[in-house]
Amino acid sequence: MNILLIGSGGREHALAWKLKQSSLCNQLFIAPGNAGTANLGTNLPIGVNNFDLLASACLDNNIEMMLVGPEEPLVKGIYDYFKNNDATKHIHVIGPSKNAAQLEGSKAFAKAFMKRHTIPTAAYAEFTNDNYDEGITYIKNHTLPIVIKADGLAAGKGVVICTNTIEALSEYELMLQRSKFGEAGKKVVIEEYLNGIELSIFALTDGENYLLLPEAKDYKRIGEGDTGLNTGGMGAVSPLPFVTPEFLQKIKTQIVEPTIHGFKKDGFEYKGFVFFGLMNDNGNPKVIEYNCRMGDPETETVIPRIENDLVDLLLACSQQRIHEKKIVISKQCIATVIAVSGGYPGDYEKGKIIEGLDNPTIPDCMLFHCGTVKKNELTVTNGEE
Ligand code: AMP
Ligand code: GLY
Repeated sequence: MNILLIGSGGREHALAWKLKQSSLCNQLFIAPGNAGTANLGTNLPIGVNNFDLLASACLDNNIEMMLVGPEEPLVKGIYDYFKNNDATKHIHVIGPSKNAAQLEGSKAFAKAFMKRHTIPTAAYAEFTNDNYDEGITYIKNHTLPIVIKADGLAAGKGVVICTNTIEALSEYELMLQRSKFGEAGKKVVIEEYLNGIELSIFALTDGENYLLLPEAKDYKRIGEGDTGLNTGGMGAVSPLPFVTPEFLQKIKTQIVEPTIHGFKKDGFEYKGFVFFGLMNDNGNPKVIEYNCRMGDPETETVIPRIENDLVDLLLACSQQRIHEKKIVISKQCIATVIAVSGGYPGDYEKGKIIEGLDNPTIPDCMLFHCGTVKKNELTVTNGEE
């Protein structure tokens, strides 16, 4: 079948690399893709949120499956757009419905979901300008550190961990009264700080059953030795030595299974990847966040460890046959390191020439591009859309 993959990151290059290996994949298209994905399929110059153009491209190119990489089109409802349109409803769209994607699109929505289904997470309360003063009292009476979160999507910047009350009150005011994060911060979630080591768990679900993918851990700070500003992730590793069989069992029974069961109970249509951002709180897993897609850079460490044909798994997911499949995971250990332009995650120069891509000199090394483009036969930096 012909497949369209949406996105332009390292996640999408790794997914494209895996999709291309499938005997079920005929032509592969990537929108908009990057210079790396261009070596595996056809890049289409269409933005990830341009649903009309994506739908036309699907019809023009006989696309039978669309895999959505990033969260934004999912939260904006790309799944429903395709399923509610007679011309595109036959396409296997891998990703959750708009309603289910609010698990990533709204932190208050995710917290209420966890509360409803008794899924372990940090204690919390939510506030808007309508109950602003109650939030001030809540912050003043709260233990420290305290975590203030903008409710909506804020490009990974909407979470502030405050070590004193004055800072917390100031962040609270900035978000609610001074629109620090615009619409995304019109509601805030205030929660208890969880101590421990974070990890990322991934499941592929058809809404009824699930397959657990290899676990990973990403490293978010920009500087050497885990210092400096937070980023989307500067690297990742898989597997994780502290994920023992006992700990994994707790993750399955206390978190993954109640979550999938919750989708069913709440009537969420969900055929795609679920990313559980967890904290290992003294051997007990707690959910920090849900994402409705694979992680980046976690995908670059997780996907190469999966030995199955990915298209076969995705098709089973779309057709609600995931119970027929068994995931095969290699024993390989993988570490991903991201190279970026100086200045990132602040302002950085684009259009820098990247050399040495054709001759990676490190053995057992794979190279995935994140947001690169071709310019006059050269590969240059561009950042992600
Ligand atoms: P989120 O956008 O919810 O994933 O939060 C971004 C990052 O903030 C997480 O990856 C954690 O490192 C940190 N964080 C969020 N919530 C908490 C919490 N309740 N306790 C400790 N750290 C947190
Ligand atoms: N690496 C974290 C994320 O993809 O959200």
